[in-house]
Amino acid sequence: MSKLAEQVLLISGASSGLGAACTERCLNQGARVIGMDLAATGIPVATSTANYLHAQGSVTDATAVAQAISQGIARFGKLTGAICCAGILHAERVVGRDGPANLESFGRVLEVNVLGTFNVIRLAADAIAKNPPSEADGQRGVIVMTSSIATYDGQVGQAAYAASKGAVASMTLPIARELAKLGIRIMSIAPGVFETPMMQAASDKVRQPLLDQTPFPKRFGQPDEFAAMVEHIFENPMLNGSVIRLDAALRM
Ligand SMILES: NC(=O)c1ccc[n+]([C@@H]2O[C@H](COP(=O)([O-])OP(=O)(O)OC[C@H]3O[C@@H](n4cnc5c(N)ncnc54)[C@H](O)[C@@H]3O)[C@@H](O)[C@H]2O)c1
Repeated sequence: MSKLAEQVLLISGASSGLGAACTERCLNQGARVIGMDLAATGIPVATSTANYLHAQGSVTDATAVAQAISQGIARFGKLTGAICCAGILHAERVVGRDGPANLESFGRVLEVNVLGTFNVIRLAADAIAKNPPSEADGQRGVIVMTSSIATYDGQVGQAAYAASKGAVASMTLPIARELAKLGIRIMSIAPGVFETPMMQAASDKVRQPLLDQTPFPKRFGQPDEFAAMVEHIFENPMLNGSVIRLDAALRM
């Protein structure tokens, strides 16, 4: 039986792309899921089951995330993990045709991708810490964050996005060290290019060179391949404090 079966998980960005794939896989494996998203509803397969609770709101909103967690605990009895997929993409040159980059856009990317992720983690970890430790290793829960290969290979126009995903990668180890005493593991996944609405919105001019540079398999990732990595992180107790590239050897 999958380790996901015994989980109650907060999944941010649950209504689309990687978060939707995680939601579907976790529900299929028997987990109960609190799905948080700006969108008003979750994916159809989730909303038709009693094991899913949708919370509309922003990950940057302290009250909204706290409410989502407390409503989830009221319904499902506990929280055992979080999967942070909410995020936004932004491309802008430092000095473009119309002058210097917009400072507010830079701040918005950091706000959603870094502050939003941290907000989910701090509130989820506080709730997870209340679980009794498992008999095996004393584990209380697991958290997965979504970074990006832009952390390492950011392209022109990706200053804000790369900075935000680099921050997620950088905070993985210090948080793992701190949460160790609470029996909580935390990992980040740095995806390459995955076929989600975020990437499907990109033009062929952006997509084709990325595909050309991908060694093998020569295609973009499927969202469920990301969800499968998340499931493995829950399964494998030795995974903690690091960032896994999931990118078919793509170096952008
Ligand atoms: N798709 C890729 O190729 C790829 C590659 C590397 C990293 N990522 C990262 O993976 C994560 C998921 O991306 P995706 O491709 O599934 O994108 P997506 O746009 O398909 O889904 C993102 C979801 O997050 C939600 N969201 C955005 N801002 C939010 C907020 N403030 N509060 C709550 N929900 C919010 C959106 O409504 C959407 O449902 C993002 O962090 C993205 O940066 C994606």
